[in-house]
Amino acid sequence: MVIAIDGPAGAGKSSVARAVARELGFTYLDSGAMYRCVALAALERGLAPAEVAPDVKIELGERVLLDGRDVTDAIRIPAVTEAASRIAADPDVRRAMVARQRELLGSGDWVAEGRDIGTVVAPQAELKLFLTASPEQRAKRRAAELGADPGTVLAEQTLRDERDTTRAHSPLEPAPGAVVLDTTELALGEVVQRVTELAYPQRP
Ligand code: CDP
Repeated sequence: MVIAIDGPAGAGKSSVARAVARELGFTYLDSGAMYRCVALAALERGLAPAEVAPDVKIELGERVLLDGRDVTDAIRIPAVTEAASRIAADPDVRRAMVARQRELLGSGDWVAEGRDIGTVVAPQAELKLFLTASPEQRAKRRAAELGADPGTVLAEQTLRDERDTTRAHSPLEPAPGAVVLDTTELALGEVVQRVTELAYPQRP
């Protein structure tokens, strides 16, 4: 079974996806970490992202490994976040990442999160969710996570939202049939409960 969770930055996708995966015993797929790895590799090697995308080795889990090196923290720095958002508009990069993601999701039980999981990567997913929240609330959450200034985070987030929603290839939008959840006023536990209920309506 695949649960697809899409939505903009700071809507709570990662926390929700991780918690739901733990609760249901599914594997968590952070597709954004893959775009971040390609961005980091391209920056470090001074190569075009489309050149590095097909052959970088990316291992996802507790820690994120890029060609065997632990880049869990390195891929979260602002310069890489910014670059990831830019390179994610490149159709060649997307093609390479989508192929890898589809291969992973081909067997087993997954909670996969990103921008295009329900629309492109796994339109066959049994459950599709689109998490949103007000831009201010999203920036506040992300700023608290990063220990950064909410105003600065909001400005960067607005730019990334704009890129994600207006790009020609796989723009961020709810998949047909996706359940749209506004998490502005919801605590993490409430969202997790809602999602597990949607996945298993009969569960006690
Ligand atoms: O954590 P946050 O939501 O801020 O970002 P992320 O999920 O780690 O993704 C980093 C960047 O990769 C985003 O800004 C998107 O532009 C891009 N991305 C994408 O285009 N498609 C995905 N399935 C996942 C991420």
